This record gives sequence, C-alpha cells and structure tokens, in this order.
Amino acid sequence: MKAIILLALGGVFLAGAAFAEGDRAEGRKLAGQCRTCHGLDGYAQIPIAPHIGGEPEDYLINQLTAFRDGTREHEMMTIVAKTLTDQQIADLAAWYAGHTATVTLSADPGDAPEDCVACHGADGIALIPMAPNLAGETNIYIDTQLKAFRNGKRVNEIMTPIAAGMTDTEIRAAADWYAEVGLEVELVE
Ligand code: HEC
Ligand code: HEC
Repeated sequence: MKAIILLALGGVFLAGAAFAEGDRAEGRKLAGQCRTCHGLDGYAQIPIAPHIGGEPEDYLINQLTAFRDGTREHEMMTIVAKTLTDQQIADLAAWYAGHTATVTLSADPGDAPEDCVACHGADGIALIPMAPNLAGETNIYIDTQLKAFRNGKRVNEIMTPIAAGMTDTEIRAAADWYAEVGLEVELVE
C-alpha cells in the first residue's frame, strides 16, 4: 500500500517538475517568433502550418518539447524549438491554449470516422488533454501526420498502432472529414 502511494506521489512530483507553470504575458511576447506561420491567435497563416489556437496545453507542451529534443522533426519547427527553455515552452503553450476555438460541423456527426471520435471528437475538438484538435487542419497536414505515424517518422504509443492499421484510403477519408470542419479562433488576451 505504502509503495503504491509513494509511486503515485512520485508521479505527481515528476509531472510538476517537468512542466513549469506557463505565463501567458510572456508567451504573448515569445509568440512574435511564431506569428508569421501560426498567427498571434494560433490560426495558421500558411497552408503547411497547423492551427494551434485553443489546442490542449499539454499537447502543445509535448510537441514543442518533441521538436526541441528531436523526437519529432520538421525543417522549420526543429530550428524554432531548438533554443526554447522549459519555461518558454510552458509560456507559449499557455498563450496559444488560452484562445477560444469554435467549430462548425455541417455534416452528420454520426458519419465521423468511428475509430477517432473517442479522443478527437466528431468535430475535431480533442476530448483528452494529450490529443490535438484536428478541426479545420488541411487534409494534407492530417494525411501527412498519419503517414508519419504509420512509417515511424513520428512516434506515439497511441497513434502509431492506430495509423499502422489504416490504408491510404482510410487516411484520406479521415483527413477529409476533419479538414471539412469549419474553425474560428478568437484571440483571448
Ligand atoms: C516558418 C514557419 C513557422 C514558424 C515561425 C513556427 N512554426 Fe510551428 N509549425 C510550422 C509547421 C510547418 C508545422 C508543421 C510541422 C509538421 O508538419 O510536422 C508546425 C507545427 C507546430 C506545432 C505542432 C502542432 C500540432 O498540431 O501538432 C506546434 C505546437 C508549433 N508549431 C508551435 C510553434 C510555436 C510556439 C512557434 C514560435 C515559437 C512556432 N511554431 C513557429 C511552422 C512554423
Ligand atoms: C485513444 C485516443 C486516440 C484515438 C482513438 C485517436 N487518436 Fe489521434 N491522437 C491521439 C493523441 C494522444 C495524439 C498526440 C500524439 C503525439 O503526441 O504525437 C494524436 C495525434 C493525432 C494526429 C496528429 C495531429 C497534429 O496536429 O499533428 C492526427 C492527424 C491524428 N491523431 C488522427 C487520428 C485519426 C484520423 C484517428 C482515427 C483513425 C485517431 N487519431 C484516433 C489520440 C488518439
């Protein structure tokens, strides 16, 4: 019993130590480096960049850390993230997560890809903190990420096995579904 409690406390302590508390005002300043591609509110300004406004904070922290540490690679983001400290990552995540994402689903939610809805929702708003929103990302971005999970270029214990079981056609259908969802991001100071 004692061992279990200690383990649980250890987990809480580690989580606290790894993720510093984010400061949104600092994040806003740092976002000056991000806005040409992601916008100040996280609504993407270029087609290859994803929308990040209103994404779960934990997800943003995980991805920025992964780009910095080289476990996720991209020619632009690897350079951007390379020099960020844990504190700066927390500040940026707090800034971008704090905006309000609103989605419009015109299709029947019952037609959503059924293997995805438990975590990404029918409308592409994430239902768990570790998962990203998919609403309104371009179908090319979603397609590329699923193929990266499938071929091992991007690794995640949940998404790797899911993508491994998908055909190109299923990947495209899921990508098209979430790309069709309308997304608006409202900047929250
Ligand atoms: C020159 C353009 C550019 C700049 C500047 C840039 N990004 Fe990115 N960002 C991208 C692209 C392109 C991707 C998609 C990477 C991929 O395809 O894997 C991306 C991906 C991301 C992701 C992953 C999102 C997801 O849904 O998985 C996060 C988080 C992110 N960027 C945050 C930032 C932050 C914070 C900054 C500023 C410190 C920043 N980016 C600056 C282009 C940029
Ligand atoms: C059990 C939960 C779960 C299910 C079910 C699930 N996902 Fe995910 N998904 C995640 C998590 C967690 C991540 C974040 C992975 C990471 O940190 O790299 C993710 C990431 C993604 C990404 C990367 C998005 C980005 O912004 O970079 C895509 C695309 C994606 N999932 C598509 C799908 C599709 C399509 C399905 C259904 C076929 C699906 N997922 C089912 C949990 C899930």
